Amino acid sequence: MSATSTPVQTPLTQLPAWRALQQHFEAVRTKHLRDLFAGDAGRGTRLAVEAAGIYFDYSKHRITDETVRLLLDLARQSGLEERREAMFTGEKINITEKRAVLHTALRAAKDAVIEVDGRNVVPEVYEVLDHMADFSERVRSGVWKGATGKAMRNVVNIGIGGSDLGPVMAYEALRHYSRRDMTFRFVSNVDGTDFAEATHDLDPAETLFIISSKTFTTLETMTNAQTARQWSLARLKDERAVAKHFAAVSTNAEEVAKFGIDTANMFGFWDWVGGRYSMDSAIGLSTMLAIGPENFRSMLSGFHAMDEHFRTAPLEKNLPVLMGLLSVWYADFFGSETVAVLPYDQYLKRFPAYLQQLTMESNGKHVTLAGRRVDYATGPIFWGEPGTNGQHSFYQLIHQGTRLIPCDFIGFCRTLNPLGDHHTLLMANVFAQGEALAFGKTPEQVRAEGTPEWLVPHRVFEGNRPSSTLLLDQLTPEALGKLVALYEHSVFTQGVIWQIDSFDQWGVELGKVLAKKIIGELEGAGPAAGSHDSSTTALMKRFRNRRS
Ligand code: F6P
Repeated sequence: MSATSTPVQTPLTQLPAWRALQQHFEAVRTKHLRDLFAGDAGRGTRLAVEAAGIYFDYSKHRITDETVRLLLDLARQSGLEERREAMFTGEKINITEKRAVLHTALRAAKDAVIEVDGRNVVPEVYEVLDHMADFSERVRSGVWKGATGKAMRNVVNIGIGGSDLGPVMAYEALRHYSRRDMTFRFVSNVDGTDFAEATHDLDPAETLFIISSKTFTTLETMTNAQTARQWSLARLKDERAVAKHFAAVSTNAEEVAKFGIDTANMFGFWDWVGGRYSMDSAIGLSTMLAIGPENFRSMLSGFHAMDEHFRTAPLEKNLPVLMGLLSVWYADFFGSETVAVLPYDQYLKRFPAYLQQLTMESNGKHVTLAGRRVDYATGPIFWGEPGTNGQHSFYQLIHQGTRLIPCDFIGFCRTLNPLGDHHTLLMANVFAQGEALAFGKTPEQVRAEGTPEWLVPHRVFEGNRPSSTLLLDQLTPEALGKLVALYEHSVFTQGVIWQIDSFDQWGVELGKVLAKKIIGELEGAGPAAGSHDSSTTALMKRFRNRRS
């Protein structure tokens, strides 16, 4: 494949492995996990892989060894190994934007050489990291003073999408390692409530805003940034305060300077880092401020360990590859619409939201790299909540509803907050849920409990509901890096199989353009006759009439 050209690919559904999988599916769809386990004592350990400290049990999936073999064939026939190398070596695999995809360079070794357009990008990555570390140390130590001479006690990240979800998720996930004497807040929504609530109890003299936006043109972020500027100046009264209370993370130095932020306090990144793949770039500045440069580096080493595993491990032992292939199996053969991500760790409460952008903005595509409409399902809907809360809410549907929802359980062997037997209770629930979903409860078992006959159907659990279990030792910065990189590469694997561009996001553009037009009309004379459909026109008119 040349630098930006579209690879010539046999349509997915014509690949021999795809056809073999279609046939094979007919044989597997009726098999029950109860039988698959009963006839195979080694299944629970054979269908499990450990890599970079993550134990991945995929035995509770509706697969046989033959399924795995055929899925791996599909990966090979789809050119996964070649495409993976193309990504790691900086080929412009984001073909619709003609960009390299190099989030892996953000955590590469210092002496690595990764070239984009003939230039090694690794030294620049380290330059920015050093700049971030220096800034973070000054703020954290109190050497950095605000306009009135006070140290910064509050950090507010303003950004949206990849410039928000990663920072919030990482802050929540690594709170245990964060500075408890500092306050960290995150403003993303253009709804003024977000800004108002995030700042109502903060002193502007002690507040540092980080304006995080790859493009520095995003409506929500720029609106919130201007509001933050006014909020600061209303109290600090001096334009020069902006330099002391604002830092920017962006690829757009020109717009940053126009906003009035000293470009010495600007932290750059590059067009080869996608927004949803940027939490380990300078977009992670708030994370570094919270947990410190050492912990941030340790997070990067976790990312790197998973990158190395993904790049070098044989496909059959490759955790992101297996995980990605299982998603394809359920989406395209079982017709599953969604995947539930269920972290049994309260610190990971924002992990499902983070994954939603990573997975759905990446693989929510309906045309192939060659521009053909696909004739198979692509990216499933990701959703979830931390356990055990979800158990008392939506698990009912997963256990006894009519839909097949593969689940990812994520658990840790050691807790960061050892309190009585909480952690044992928590983990008992992870194991119990996976077991209940897979094996269920038969009518005979229900009757044997003395259940009256009319109630039996209600109390039966059919089982045969698939899940993966990811078991890690402890939630550390390094472990978080590994976990995120695992999902990043799983998403990549799925995108390669589906022959789509996982790195563009054209689907968010139309709404942005229409909103701009509508803003003008709401602020001006209202919708011009015939400029919208009758529904949109009526809604806009009602809003204009009633808002005052
Ligand atoms: O609108 C989608 C999107 O472009 C995301 O891909 C991105 O993460 C987000 O908006 C924010 O973009 P920016 O960092 O340029 O403000």
